[in-house]
Amino acid sequence: MVMTVLLASGDQRHKLSPTFQIKRNSRMTEARIGLVGLAVMGANLALNIAEKGFPVAVYNRTESRIGEFIGEAGDLARKLVPCETPEKLVASLSRPRAIIIMVKAGAPVDAVISQLQPLLDAGDMIIDAGNANFHDTRRREEALRSLGLSFIGMGVSGGEEGARYGPSIMVGGQANSYGVIRDIIEAIAAKYQGDPCAAHMGPDGAGHFVKTVHNGIEYADMQMIAEVYGIMRDGQSRSATEIGKVFELWNDGPLRSYLVEISGKVLQERDPATGKPMVEMIVDKAGQKGTGRWTVIEALGLGQSASTIEAAVGARSWSADKIARKDGEDILRDAAASGDGVAGIGDDDLELALLAAKIIAYAQGFDLLAAASSEYKWSLDMARIAEVWREGCIIRSAMLNDMASAARTGMPHGQLIFAPEFVGRLTSASDALRRVVAAAAINGLPVPAFSAALAYFDTMRRGRGTTDLIQAQRDFFGAHGFERTDGGTGHHGPWAGAF
Ligand code: 6PG
Repeated sequence: MVMTVLLASGDQRHKLSPTFQIKRNSRMTEARIGLVGLAVMGANLALNIAEKGFPVAVYNRTESRIGEFIGEAGDLARKLVPCETPEKLVASLSRPRAIIIMVKAGAPVDAVISQLQPLLDAGDMIIDAGNANFHDTRRREEALRSLGLSFIGMGVSGGEEGARYGPSIMVGGQANSYGVIRDIIEAIAAKYQGDPCAAHMGPDGAGHFVKTVHNGIEYADMQMIAEVYGIMRDGQSRSATEIGKVFELWNDGPLRSYLVEISGKVLQERDPATGKPMVEMIVDKAGQKGTGRWTVIEALGLGQSASTIEAAVGARSWSADKIARKDGEDILRDAAASGDGVAGIGDDDLELALLAAKIIAYAQGFDLLAAASSEYKWSLDMARIAEVWREGCIIRSAMLNDMASAARTGMPHGQLIFAPEFVGRLTSASDALRRVVAAAAINGLPVPAFSAALAYFDTMRRGRGTTDLIQAQRDFFGAHGFERTDGGTGHHGPWAGAF
């Protein structure tokens, strides 16, 4: 099949691929926005923008993909302006020009920016919609601002389906630049009872940082769900289908969320080739592209510990060591757990434990956002962040609306776990978390994220901890000094000079 599609200007034919041809049309409307990168996410985002009525100019480095994409766009091709060079993309845009980049994070983003920047004029804007490291976003924003250009770091969550039909969008950069594209962003975003799940989070890297923490929470949430699956599968010998049905049921209760919903679905799916549960045919080695790890690195850098997220990142790393784990079954056989099983742990306990642990993971995420907000002077609005996460994104969950209200009301010490709406829930669910963690430990079932959640919770409900001894140890071997309970800092213990 030879397909003819319309280019931005001129009238000569360009052979894009063996199957597609492009015809330029000088009457084509000026595009409101440009998009570079027509892989899955970029293509779906472009279609979403076109569907909302905004003409989009599109460019892809591999030229054949442009024609292919236009060919797949159906009626929406009317709103797409295919451009076979960056120059043509820039020339086809209304001013101030706004160009979304949706390419692999890292060097490819810098490469596209270097291509576009010389073609742009003061006031034009580049929007990076990939999962960038916010330090890169800060660097790029500063460099482009010094040239009179705007740079927006825009976190987009929701996977392919979200990009096509409504993602959650976290924008960072100058507020007035966002004003130029706000109508488009709000039109394409998911809606929660009519409210667009898109907002300007703050300057420079704020949007990408919020997206990174979103992903960190996503890691913790996924890990906690997997831990429940592990207890049911290995401790209670339940089938994948049976476990899937439990998740399906929970999705009608307080745990209602996208990740619980899809877990219920995938566990009930069968492998067409073998007829076995699909999950049994998947090797238990989890990949990661980096956002979870970045969350943990940033937490530590800010003097925090998002321990549930750290546990989730670590669990994925350990999972990659499959061969060692298999050998470990033999090598450490005699260290088998002494418990008599987790049959006594009911689904109600598991549901409550998941609820409590999940609240704690979100709480750590919000805490980290607050720390970064003060470090980078972003003035992040926690309530708005929770609102933007209510629909469209991977961590969307029924609880986010209550988290938004808690943040609006003001959380004591900025802590979600101290907010009245959540104190009640944690009070009734934390005992179940204890029972589950204890039963898992005594029966040798690893629950790193649940354990981390419980340890954090118990630390935060104890006014007197055990670091008085750590301070004494530091003073003993390094004369580091300590603060006395009866007042004054820089004190030393009677052991001073003892060696
Ligand atoms: C989203 C997701 C997405 C993420 C991938 C996988 O919000 O849509 O978080 O951005 O990149 O789903 O991430 P990992 O490969 O790190 O698991």
